Amino acid sequence: MTEVSIRGFRPGDGEALSILVARCLREVNSRDYPAELIERMCAHFTADRFRELSVERRIYLAERDGRVVGTVSRDGNKVYTMFVDPDLLGCGIGRRLMRHIEDLARAEGHEFMETGASITGHGFYQRIGYQDVRVSDTEFGINYILRRPLSGA
Ligand SMILES: CC(C)(COP(=O)(O)OP(=O)(O)OC[C@H]1O[C@@H](n2cnc3c(N)ncnc32)[C@H](O)[C@@H]1OP(=O)(O)O)[C@@H](O)C(=O)NCCC(=O)NCCS
Repeated sequence: MTEVSIRGFRPGDGEALSILVARCLREVNSRDYPAELIERMCAHFTADRFRELSVERRIYLAERDGRVVGTVSRDGNKVYTMFVDPDLLGCGIGRRLMRHIEDLARAEGHEFMETGASITGHGFYQRIGYQDVRVSDTEFGINYILRRPLSGA
């Protein structure tokens, strides 16, 4: 696979992120969630929503050959909206994005990273070193809260 690079969000990225997330939801998350919920989530993650979110959080994009192939967001040590191109699952892009934001959070002095995982993303986070802390409910259903220590990692 050619090189994947990671960069911060620019205002023109909203459309590409909205398309990427909708593809993930319909092609991957749909195995764990009913169609009605998937469509509600697609309607939530519009290009404008990403532009709004970029004010509240740091959004990162993974690019390959000038194409957006993944995204993750961070507010300090909290992780949000992790999605990878469904055609490139299992290639290490998700892990790469997580290590990138973990390094940034560690440099800011955070002792652990915390994420909220969907049913679909739960096994991924466990695989890359996250441990279950608790379970919560969101408007989009069950959310597994997991943490990974950053000190000495
Ligand atoms: C979850 C997701 C981000 C993982 O991205 P990815 O780029 O495929 O993950 P990676 O290739 O970096 O995988 C890292 C490791 O986790 C494993 N893994 C990936 N997805 C997994 C899953 N759902 N369950 C268990 N293990 C998983 C990989 O096999 C790999 O294992 P290895 O250490 O043996 O190599 C991606 O599947 C995705 O976008 N899913 C749809 C959206 C979603 O559910 N996002 C999470 C919201 S909480």
